[in-house]
Amino acid sequence: MALSTEAGWNQTTADWHRLLRLGRGFGVAERGGPLVASAVILPYDSDLAWISMVLVIARWRRRGLASILMDEALDACRRLGRTAFLDATPDGTEVYRQLGFAAGERITRWSRPAGAATTTLPTVRADASLEPACLLDARAMGAPRRALLEALAADGRPILQSGGSLLLRPGRVAWQIGPLTAADRRSADALLADGLAAVGAQAAFADARDAAGFDGVLRAAGFTPQRHFLRMHSGTPPPADPGLLWLTAGPEFG
Ligand SMILES: CC(C)(COP(=O)(O)OP(=O)(O)OC[C@H]1O[C@@H](n2cnc3c(N)ncnc32)[C@H](O)[C@@H]1OP(=O)(O)O)[C@@H](O)C(=O)NCCC(=O)NCCS
Repeated sequence: MALSTEAGWNQTTADWHRLLRLGRGFGVAERGGPLVASAVILPYDSDLAWISMVLVIARWRRRGLASILMDEALDACRRLGRTAFLDATPDGTEVYRQLGFAAGERITRWSRPAGAATTTLPTVRADASLEPACLLDARAMGAPRRALLEALAADGRPILQSGGSLLLRPGRVAWQIGPLTAADRRSADALLADGLAAVGAQAAFADARDAAGFDGVLRAAGFTPQRHFLRMHSGTPPPADPGLLWLTAGPEFG
C-alpha cells in the first residue's frame, strides 16, 4: 500500500490481497527494511497473464529494479505458457519497450470528482448468474478470467444485463467503473448510465479504450481525461474482440 499510495494510485488493501491471492507478487526490499519495488502477475484462467503493480519508490528509481522484476515476471509468464499483457503508464512504457513489449491500444483514464453526479435515475438490474458476463468478457479479452471477475463482483457491485455487464468497485480515492463489456453501443450506454447512478455523487474513474468512442458520453457525464495508458504485450496475443470491452477493469487487472 505504501508503494501504490506514494504513486497516487487507486488500489485498496483489498485490491492487493485479491491480486496476491489470485496471482503472484515479486518484490525488492532494503536489507531488513521495507519493500522498495514490486510487480505482480495475475494469470487469467488460460492463455494470458496480466502484469501490474510495477512500482519503484522514488529514491530507488533508474537503478534497474523495475527491469529486474519484469524479467522475473516474464520468466514466470513463459513457464506458465501465458502471453504477458499490461497497461503501461508513460513512465513504464520505455521500460517495457526495452524488454520487447509491443504497443497496442491507448486507454484514457477519465475522472469525475465527488459531487458531480448526473441526474440519471437508478435503474440497476441484476440477475443471479455471472456466466454471460464471463463469456462476453472472454471474447473481448481473448482469454477467460472468471476467477478474477467473480472476485471483483464479490467485493464490488455487479450490474448484469442481457446485452452486457458492468462491475463497480470502491478504490482508495475513487470508485472504479469497469470492466464494462457489451455487445453493442446501446447496451454499453445503458450500463454506464446505471453504473453512474449506482456510484451517485462519489468520485469515480473510468478507463476507456480510445477506440471505443466513449469520450462524448463520459464528458456529458462530467468526466475529464486525467492520464493515459498504453496496452502492451509480450508474446503472441490470443485472438480477441476488443470492441466488446468499453471500459477496462483498471490497469492492475486489464
Ligand atoms: C516506471 C518505473 C516502475 C520504472 O522503475 P525503474 O526501476 O526506475 O526502471 P529501470 O531502472 O529498470 O529503467 C530501465 C530503463 O527504462 C527507461 N526508463 C525508466 N524510467 C523511465 C522514465 N520515467 N522515463 C523514460 N524512460 C525511463 C530507461 O531507459 C531506463 O534505463 P536508464 O536508467 O539506464 O536510462 C518507476 O519510474 C515508477 O515506479 N514509476 C511510478 C509508477 C509507474 O508508473 N509504474 C509503471 C506502471 S505500468
